[in-house]
Amino acid sequence: MALIAPSILSADFLQLGKDVDMVNNSAADWFHLDVMDGRFVPNISFGLPVISAIGRQAKKTLDVHLMIVEPEKYVQAFAAAGAHNLTVHIEASTHLHRTIQTIKAEGMKAGVAVNPHTPIHLLNDIIEELDLVCLMSVNPGFGGQQFIPQTLKKIQQLRQLIGESNSNALIEIDGGVTLNNAKTIIEAGADVLVAGNTVFNAADPIATIAALKQL
Ligand code: DX5
Ligand code: ZN
Repeated sequence: MALIAPSILSADFLQLGKDVDMVNNSAADWFHLDVMDGRFVPNISFGLPVISAIGRQAKKTLDVHLMIVEPEKYVQAFAAAGAHNLTVHIEASTHLHRTIQTIKAEGMKAGVAVNPHTPIHLLNDIIEELDLVCLMSVNPGFGGQQFIPQTLKKIQQLRQLIGESNSNALIEIDGGVTLNNAKTIIEAGADVLVAGNTVFNAADPIATIAALKQL
């Protein structure tokens, strides 16, 4: 049974409070919050004030995924906005070890996200510091894209790396998760499934979250 993290990127922003309550009342475990800057990724989403507002109503962990350049500049600000997990991209953080220590010093769980082309072995010397690894199973920037099958092999490689090291990191899969492929993804070794389009464009989002949770 995996943790389920609905991605608010696919919510109805005009009725955000309603969608936050839906997640509160569902079997979901986390809120996944995608921050995009139009520089690291070719899209702009939402930022600190929106996350603070969601945090006032959310009853579950705020899992914040930063798709921004120079994420180290904003660690304190996201802690103040209410983030519980803060994930930065390995491709965007030159001094990743320091950034991870800063995230933990601010009282948050520390995550690293890796793009589809980034090899797992680049995590060898940081894995023991991490609470979470977010494997991108699409190229980041947009919801509703197709799952990249190569990710399954990366999940297995990462599971092996975690097993061989002194790491408790959770494996989170982000992008293109559906009711059809979720079981295979869990069997490959995933701990957390992010789901945007699959949840928020479903006829019955609560039932869809429950179905993902039961796999
Ligand atoms: C993509 C984001 C994802 C996105 C996933 O850049 O990081 O979290 O919301 O959306 P779906 O589940 O629709 O692929
Ligand atoms: Zn994400």
